Amino acid sequence: FGNDGYKLWLQYRFVENEALRGNYRSYINKLMPLGDSKTIEVAEKELELGLKGMLGLDFLSKPGVGEKSLIFGEKSNLSKDISIQLESDFNNINDEGFIIKSISIKGKNQIVITGNTDVGVLYGVYHFLQLLQSHKPIEQLKIVDSPKLKVRVLNHWDNLDRTVERGYAGFSIWDWHRLPDYIDQRYVDYARANASIGINGTVLNNVNANALILTPQYLEKVEVLANIFRPYGIKVYLTARFSAPIEIGGLPTADPLDLDVIKWWQEKAKEIYTRIPDFGGFLVKANSEGQPGPQNYGRNHVDGANMMANAVAPFKGIVMWRAFVYSEHDTTDRAKQAYSEFVPYDGQFKDNVLVQVKNGAIDFQPREPFHPMFGAMPKTPLMMEFQITQEYLGFSTHSIFLPKLFEEVLKADTYRKGKGSTIAKDIDGSLHNKRLTGIAGVSNIGSDINWTGNTMLQANWYGYGRLAWNPYLSANEIADEWLVLTFSTNESFIKPVKNMMLDSKEAVVNYMTPLGLHHIMDTGHHYGPGPWVSNLSRPEWNPVYYHKADKNGIGFDRTPTGSNATEQYADEVAAKFNNINTCPEEDLLWFHHVPWDYRLKNGKTLWDGMALKYQEGVNQVEHMGKTWDTMEAYIDSGRFNEVKMLLNIQFKEAKWWRDACLLYFQQFSGKPLPDGVEKPT
Ligand code: GCU
Repeated sequence: FGNDGYKLWLQYRFVENEALRGNYRSYINKLMPLGDSKTIEVAEKELELGLKGMLGLDFLSKPGVGEKSLIFGEKSNLSKDISIQLESDFNNINDEGFIIKSISIKGKNQIVITGNTDVGVLYGVYHFLQLLQSHKPIEQLKIVDSPKLKVRVLNHWDNLDRTVERGYAGFSIWDWHRLPDYIDQRYVDYARANASIGINGTVLNNVNANALILTPQYLEKVEVLANIFRPYGIKVYLTARFSAPIEIGGLPTADPLDLDVIKWWQEKAKEIYTRIPDFGGFLVKANSEGQPGPQNYGRNHVDGANMMANAVAPFKGIVMWRAFVYSEHDTTDRAKQAYSEFVPYDGQFKDNVLVQVKNGAIDFQPREPFHPMFGAMPKTPLMMEFQITQEYLGFSTHSIFLPKLFEEVLKADTYRKGKGSTIAKDIDGSLHNKRLTGIAGVSNIGSDINWTGNTMLQANWYGYGRLAWNPYLSANEIADEWLVLTFSTNESFIKPVKNMMLDSKEAVVNYMTPLGLHHIMDTGHHYGPGPWVSNLSRPEWNPVYYHKADKNGIGFDRTPTGSNATEQYADEVAAKFNNINTCPEEDLLWFHHVPWDYRLKNGKTLWDGMALKYQEGVNQVEHMGKTWDTMEAYIDSGRFNEVKMLLNIQFKEAKWWRDACLLYFQQFSGKPLPDGVEKPT
């Protein structure tokens, strides 16, 4: 297959157009790094790699005529005559922001890439290289940009034995066995890829954590990774197992109010920071799905989170405390539990704690209404948790462009401070003036040559990073950027493939869970349909708990006549969801139990409409495959064939989903399939 896939969106393809290449070369006769930090060194290396690739191998060794230089370095290293010209721009960027500007120095035109810090400069350098790869003009540059969120992390659900929980792209890229002495080139390329889109942190290990990661034997390895990532502006974080003081500390308890436990965490923090002075902090999954936590000792989330936050506070570390909790003791509606457990504690968490909330209240479904916690905790920094890996979305076999899903969530209006109180504004801090802000993406990266198991899904890593930088970007812009950087600038390729990507999300919703259906995947692995599963020990693990299909209809009543989960939303939102006439049809069965002959807005009965949605999903995937088949001429055969084969599987499996779900639900509806829906074979 070749290894074009390995290079992700950092292809640095040769610019074939001679005039354009000549134009670019005329602006960059020399590289002028300012300062000697490791970050500036990697920025220079990246420029050399990119410019040689795009402008020709002889580039830089054979400078053209003139003295135009590309100057790059942080503010404090700029000469006076440059910094004076950029004063107002510096007022518009934060610590990680950058400025790329064409300026005139002593009558000569130069391009300057700068920022308040060297990491800002590095982000600017990547942006500059992306301009060239996208064939954009560089005559009159004035680009000023900063990230809108502070903590922009990937969460690796990677185990120490290199298996990856819910990972579908091979094994973990962390080769614990051969660390700390063997440095895999992947670590560097991983850091480059992340820095190029502004990701500034990585949590190395699974949320279902093994305490061993906190022993000196592993910390020695973690330290090496931190050293590799540091020049790229990437901090290392670890998931801390709450019971670690017992398991590796020899204490009889992990009670967060026990003095020995408190001391143990303080010393552990000191030990980690001695090795890794810029260690980011801890991620914690506590009292969730069997993980230990403060509730084991009659304490609460605040007790647990604040105790750990105190331990890392002297070193400026943070704690990301997950809100993904639900218990077998409350069987009425799993969707309500996180809100009930966390919202009462608003204002009680220490200021270096972020509460990490999944985008929806159940679990990374193809479509979920937004999580009611967003907007509802004005005094607590909430960070978004998106899942980039496709646990419920066809693993890495199905091509789906997730920025569409992310965009929908970020734009959702919580109405907590009136109209326009979007989730993007809650997580970027502007809605409630929050100082600490962040976002996490559960990684889809593994040891496969192409990193994500399917080249098309590299777009989800890329898109997540771009939205972490700026949660107001559109999926449309992101698709454009990614396609150009990854494949080609040819519009005859970009346009159809972009449409295919933008439609892919709704296609998956349609053939898996249309009209608000959810969690009907087969059990455990969550691949393929399983709406009939009803025999699992915990009721809320069974698909039948979620669709509640019977002779009268289908759907989960979450209005006041049912679980009343809608009361957790702002009044305007609750009113909209409660009324079957104003509830968006895409969420209908999430909030209502609806009779089979209920009339949808298009005049069809619910049964007919649902069947037609399943068919629509199948048709959309068929169309995606046909579109891709006409793209062979534009890209390398390795990536072309790989995506083609996967789209064929997706088409087969979309039909599997349609047939399985319709045959199963038909026993309740008792109605024939409407015209236009293919009969199962
Ligand atoms: C899902 C997933 C688990 C994961 C959990 C979590 O339930 O299936 O594998 O551990 O989410 O986010 O903690």
